[in-house]
Amino acid sequence: MSRYCILLLLVGLASALTVPLAGEQAPFRLDTNAPADLPYEHSTPSFWMLGPNANPLAEAGSTGAFTDAADVCIVGSGMTGTSAAYHLANAVEGGRFPLPEGKERLRAVVLEARDFCSGATGRNGGNLTPFEIRGFREVEKRFGREEALRYFAIEHYSSTEMARIAREGGWADSVDLVEGGHVDLLQTEEQVDELWADFDAAVAAGKSTNVSWFSREEMNATYGTYNWGIRTPGYNVWPLKFVTELFKEANSTTDKLDLRLHTQTPVTKVSPLSLHSEDKTSFPTRWALSTPRGEVHCSYVLHATNAYASHLLPHLAGSIVPVRGQVVALRASAPASALTKVSWIGGVGYWFPRPVEEDERPIVIFGGARDAAGPPFEVGTTDDGSVNEAVGKVLRGFLSTLFPTLYEEGREPEREWTGIMGYTPERDVPFVGPVLKYEGQFISAGYGGHGMPRAYACAEAIVGMIAAELEGRDWVLPEWMPRPFLTSS
Ligand SMILES: Cc1cc2nc3c(=O)[nH]c(=O)nc-3n(C[C@H](O)[C@H](O)[C@H](O)COP(=O)(O)OP(=O)(O)OC[C@H]3O[C@@H](n4cnc5c(N)ncnc54)[C@H](O)[C@@H]3O)c2cc1C
Ligand SMILES: *[C@@H]1O[C@H](CO)[C@@H](O)[C@H](O)[C@H]1NC(C)=O
Ligand SMILES: *[C@@H]1O[C@H](CO)[C@@H](O)[C@H](O)[C@H]1NC(C)=O
Ligand SMILES: *[C@@H]1O[C@H](CO)[C@@H](O)[C@H](O)[C@H]1NC(C)=O
Repeated sequence: MSRYCILLLLVGLASALTVPLAGEQAPFRLDTNAPADLPYEHSTPSFWMLGPNANPLAEAGSTGAFTDAADVCIVGSGMTGTSAAYHLANAVEGGRFPLPEGKERLRAVVLEARDFCSGATGRNGGNLTPFEIRGFREVEKRFGREEALRYFAIEHYSSTEMARIAREGGWADSVDLVEGGHVDLLQTEEQVDELWADFDAAVAAGKSTNVSWFSREEMNATYGTYNWGIRTPGYNVWPLKFVTELFKEANSTTDKLDLRLHTQTPVTKVSPLSLHSEDKTSFPTRWALSTPRGEVHCSYVLHATNAYASHLLPHLAGSIVPVRGQVVALRASAPASALTKVSWIGGVGYWFPRPVEEDERPIVIFGGARDAAGPPFEVGTTDDGSVNEAVGKVLRGFLSTLFPTLYEEGREPEREWTGIMGYTPERDVPFVGPVLKYEGQFISAGYGGHGMPRAYACAEAIVGMIAAELEGRDWVLPEWMPRPFLTSS
């Protein structure tokens, strides 16, 4: 089959399988197959990056001594890369990850092109929402019942684990982790019927569900909008602070991991090393990562580069496609008590109020409205240094129209920024596992607009895969890992 045919096939597949999600309704076509650029040097600062001590690791390891070799090299310091470091630390400490023979420590390095966690994770919408029933029929039709249950299980697993770690570490409050629930706003009876059908399918498949259904009158009385809705469990969080704490956990869990971080250090190329290490006391050194500061020699490489993955792996161009999302931070005109703590998805976007005192008017983080951009709907750009005015206009107007008592018309946002998501031919089904044909290289990327409740567990899976390979045994699929995510499928 010619490359052109394959592309047409992928495009056809993508449109046939597109689930029209509220808040993510823009048409989506893989009409680009150019490799992604490196992350833009000058990006729009997000709400999360501002404020005192919001990013203490921002420039960590950007100057001074450089690391020229490691057993595991992680490219990217977002949710995926940091979760991988965290799970490496725990696996090494728990004896579930072998050390090179005769060595007392595993060496790992995280290389980040810009400031620490300045990609999608540092500029997203802050929703940590495991989908409960939304889209269940579509996922079941595509992947069958067992995989559909896993598809939902991974989100439940990731978000409850993330909450547990934050609570046990004593930093849940300092990263503003709020278990406020989640509401799907439904504007038509058709949308209500669709969700009922998803609910019935999920129950028929044996999924446990926690869904409260709201009539328009109940929604108006509780949330200030005359629309239908369902409420399910969910969290919201300050994502950059969460990842910072997770990195600190990774760096303090065990003496058996020597973890380095070099920010402002883009990897520009991955090349095979012709000379494998003859030193039997370490893992074979297979890859050289080129950076402006010199080469890093690695046994294992994890591409935790999400939207940018195809820069270093050009054969993934067209398979992981950068798509720009836009977010505003907008002050509500009613106090926090009136807005409640729930996060939302519906209409043109997704949003939640920042936790503040009950009588304070919170800042609301609101993202979406990509369809307002018009063709090509922000697909194929890695420019997070500018915003789209048409998208911004819709983001400004939506909440005051739907919640007239809570948001004031015409108010300007306090902050507006963009970030780059990574979409795959099946929209948000990521690639997790070995990079085929490149021994020792792994990837976890391509979560679409819904990565927070999945990237955490996908990175855990990768650490398990590398450990299994080193120990010469088969990797055992965790019960929450959907097979369609695996690069091997
Ligand atoms: C605007 C926006 C809103 C979103 N809202 C939500 C939401 O509310 N809820 C949700 O669940 N998900 C949301 N998402 C998606 C979610 O943020 C992502 O799926 C998730 O953060 C991906 O994490 P990651 O670590 O894989 O990627 P990233 O956080 O993008 O991390 C990749 C890192 O790799 C670095 N990098 C790339 N190439 C190189 C290189 N060659 N060398 C060195 N470093 C490199 C980048 O600089 C970046 O820091 C949103 C995304 C965006 C953009
Ligand atoms: C919604 O509630 C407000 C006050 O709580 C009320 O004034 C308004 O009439 C209600 N809207 C509808 C359509 O019932
Ligand atoms: C169901 O979800 C709500 C949030 O929507 C939460 O408050 C409640 O504790 C959950 N119940 C169970 C049994 O998980
Ligand atoms: C990781 O921990 C080591 C040892 O405690 C410390 O020297 C180093 O600064 C830490 N790294 C980062 C990026 O904080």
